[in-house]
Amino acid sequence: MTGKEGSPVSFEPLEEDRSFEGIRPRKFDNFIGQTQIKNSLGIHIDAARSRGEALEHLLFYGPPGLGKTTLAHIIANEIGANIKITSGPAIERPGDLAAILTNLQAHDILFIDEIHRLNKVVEEVLYPAMEDFGLDIVIGKGPSARSIRLDLPKFTLIGATTRIGLLSAPLRDRFGIVNRLEFYNPDELKQIIIRAAQTFKIEIEDQGAIEIAKRSRGTPRIAIRFLRRVRDFAQVKGSGKISNNIAKECLDSMEVDEFGLDKIDRKYIITIIDKFGGGPVGVETLSAGISEEVETIEDVYEPYLMQIGFIERTPRGRLVTPSAAKHVGRKLKADKTTPQETLFH
Ligand SMILES: Nc1ncnc2c1ncn2[C@@H]1O[C@H](COP(=O)(O)OP(=O)(O)O)[C@@H](O)[C@H]1O
Ligand SMILES: [Mg+2]
Repeated sequence: MTGKEGSPVSFEPLEEDRSFEGIRPRKFDNFIGQTQIKNSLGIHIDAARSRGEALEHLLFYGPPGLGKTTLAHIIANEIGANIKITSGPAIERPGDLAAILTNLQAHDILFIDEIHRLNKVVEEVLYPAMEDFGLDIVIGKGPSARSIRLDLPKFTLIGATTRIGLLSAPLRDRFGIVNRLEFYNPDELKQIIIRAAQTFKIEIEDQGAIEIAKRSRGTPRIAIRFLRRVRDFAQVKGSGKISNNIAKECLDSMEVDEFGLDKIDRKYIITIIDKFGGGPVGVETLSAGISEEVETIEDVYEPYLMQIGFIERTPRGRLVTPSAAKHVGRKLKADKTTPQETLFH
């Protein structure tokens, strides 16, 4: 999944984000929000440390840009372990995974991003590795082939995914700790923005930070990206300092509205209303209607639209709510169930 042409809001790490790597918090103290997750992780880390054991395998899930990768790094840092980073699609063959696993040291962290994209044969190598720290290797071919088990060091697997629903049950069940990351509230985003601004010596007024926070759709990655854009804007159009007005002007020019919705969000809502009577409409049909991939719609656009109560997902498809209709200047028909339609159900 990549950032879309034509959308000012990109949800995946971009090349330009690299220069912002420096602001990735390295300690829990600097990781704002997600309090429950932080508290429970703190306890698990202390417990593992006092027993001298490796931390249990951990899974983080939730929409892109909420801090899954950052948390994996913080955990490694807090327990003073090495972290090896890979991703589901990067591990093509069982041998690739075997090579990674046999190179780990005790208590190392193996971080597998997009873990829902592991292929089945690779996944099967992971089961005994996670459960018994064992690696089954087949020696020889044909009738004389036999399998031997290698012991692996006691490592911790941290998986991250935007699509928990696509994870197989056996894989999901092998994680001792499963954490869902939530969207951030505007106050938390404001703190993240101010901290990032300090790190980069960007002058920003409180109201400027609040304005960016409001439009960042609950997502730190987006907040930080907007901060960069607004900084440029402030330098060219203003005094260099980010005020409320500068932030507004810049985000307006990017067509990001006061709810943080961009052109594609609005097209999504308007299409359901104008072409599908407000819904319900299946995601496949909708995907064709707005020329966006189903995966992008489900991973990136819908979670936030649901969070703010603009859409509902029903078994028959997506429905737009009256507040969403109002936001795009439309009215929903009062009763969507026509008598004929009722006959079919
Ligand atoms: N809670 C947080 N506090 C401060 N910065 C955060 C927080 N969560 C995420 N970030 C920042 O947002 C960006 C995206 O986070 P990342 O961990 O890459 O998200 P994910 O892996 O979930 O897509 C990073 O630059 C990170 O520093
Ligand atoms: Mg990530």
